Amino acid sequence: MSELMEMLTRRGYFWQSFEIYGGMAGFVDYGPLGNALRRKIEDIWRKHFVIRERAVEIDTPTVCVEEVFIASGHVSCFTDVAIECESCGRVFRADHYIKEVLGIEIEPTIETVKEIIDEYDLKCVCGGRFREPFLFNLMFSTKIGPGKGKMGYLRPETAQGIFIDFRRLLEYFRHKLPFGVAQIGRAYRNEISPRQGVVRLREFNQAELEYFVHPKEKRHENFERYANVKVKLLDKNDKPHEVTLREAVERGIICHELMAYFIGKTREFLLEVGVDESKLRFRQHKDDERAHYAIDCWDAEVLTSYGWIEIVGIADRTDYDLKKHMEHSGEDLRVFVQFERPIRVKKRKIVPNMKKLGPIYRAKAKEIAKKLEELEVDDYVDSVTVEVDGEKIEISREFFEIEEVEEEIHGEKIVPHVIEPSFGLDRITFTVLEHNFDKDVVEGEERRVLRLKRWIAPIPVAVLPLLSREPFISKAKEIVEMLRNEGIYTEYDDSGSIGRRYRRFDEIGTPFCITVDHQTFEDSTVTIRDRDTTKQVRVKIEELPNVLKELLSSERDIEEFGEIFRS
Ligand code: GLY
Repeated sequence: MSELMEMLTRRGYFWQSFEIYGGMAGFVDYGPLGNALRRKIEDIWRKHFVIRERAVEIDTPTVCVEEVFIASGHVSCFTDVAIECESCGRVFRADHYIKEVLGIEIEPTIETVKEIIDEYDLKCVCGGRFREPFLFNLMFSTKIGPGKGKMGYLRPETAQGIFIDFRRLLEYFRHKLPFGVAQIGRAYRNEISPRQGVVRLREFNQAELEYFVHPKEKRHENFERYANVKVKLLDKNDKPHEVTLREAVERGIICHELMAYFIGKTREFLLEVGVDESKLRFRQHKDDERAHYAIDCWDAEVLTSYGWIEIVGIADRTDYDLKKHMEHSGEDLRVFVQFERPIRVKKRKIVPNMKKLGPIYRAKAKEIAKKLEELEVDDYVDSVTVEVDGEKIEISREFFEIEEVEEEIHGEKIVPHVIEPSFGLDRITFTVLEHNFDKDVVEGEERRVLRLKRWIAPIPVAVLPLLSREPFISKAKEIVEMLRNEGIYTEYDDSGSIGRRYRRFDEIGTPFCITVDHQTFEDSTVTIRDRDTTKQVRVKIEELPNVLKELLSSERDIEEFGEIFRS
């Protein structure tokens, strides 16, 4: 276990799930600090991707009926190639095993894997031979209800809950594009052999935004906000670019302004939660790498101890999902889009001849005439077919006339396209911890310090009595109570020397420690110690809540709030 992971486990960020029963790969428990950190990251995500957009957030079930994933293509396409050892029975994800053992990146199809096994005489770690490679679907399946039940799956992405609610969401947005719908929640993937701790989980946390737009309007009214931001890009041909987002769109490196907008917004969010920009890049998926629903995808990747890992995927899903759900459910998920100005079009309409229809078709004649009137034809046809009470009836030309009419058209029905920024919250949380874990030397001693952004620190403030006795204890507890009543999450600690207590809070990332010392009883002041610089200033107790609120929501220096007392 790395030094960081040891600290995160010991101090209550994460630990292995089901520990007392031997654990299970691909599952992790968030301890008190990890849970608080991820929730704060979620809130910042909400600020960027819901509050600052024309967007809403919904919450749909994690267990879904199978129809959803038959339609979405996950039942047939959401697979990895697996290889199983004949001797020890171990199963590996083929592309990961081949990369690990042979150092080769492959396109993971059954054929390629077979060829590689033969060519390199690839064996299991135990020396055994592999059986024929096979496709393994990554969804967890389940039965809904007793007995034979109904087949269901745990969702592999939160997105589908949004697509299948599209008709109601469209009504909510008064039929006006563009709009975004977000969902934050659990998703599940039965990974074949996850061995990368928090980075590859079978149950994980996603934050997704489905942004619905007119297919011909993949722009954003706030693009200018990010247009001059310089980003590091790696295109699908592995060519690096360091350009502004405007330039990337103009040169065709990024396909459209909306994709560039979300790249800029994603970068802004990641920096705000504390991802190190020097370890951040955006990489375009190669043609053989994209998910079955996407025509383009850019990942935000970060450099970690696991190498470059994907923490966000921004995909252009086109109308793929809505069209599939239209086909499978029979629901009309199109949007009526009004033209700026009405247009006039010529149409050929059918005019039924009731005098002739009546004697021949009798009781059905009226219904046939109605169906004929609804038809439009491209040409002067000799016959048409209508369906009446489930029966298909061919009606020949003697029963109707074709008339050319000019009509005014006010709009058209379109299937919106979707741009989807999709965030892996567990990986982001881990990255933030890894990128901010640091060591330095204070008073001749090495210390471990988690330099988290102040606004996401799980424990933002700790109050410490200088000495673990009265009256220091009572005064410190009084201050704790005051800060908690002001809505500031505050801890109290009186065990061990003051230096050791500072180190404990440095290690978990607490940005400010408040100390009650001798002078507190003379002039009602306390000291505020800054985690990063270890500088201290003295402030009046009554001013403490406002000073802390200001410090915790900004990167202002504590020196602005009082005279340096110790550094
Ligand atoms: N919705 C995209 C993904 O789950 O990867």
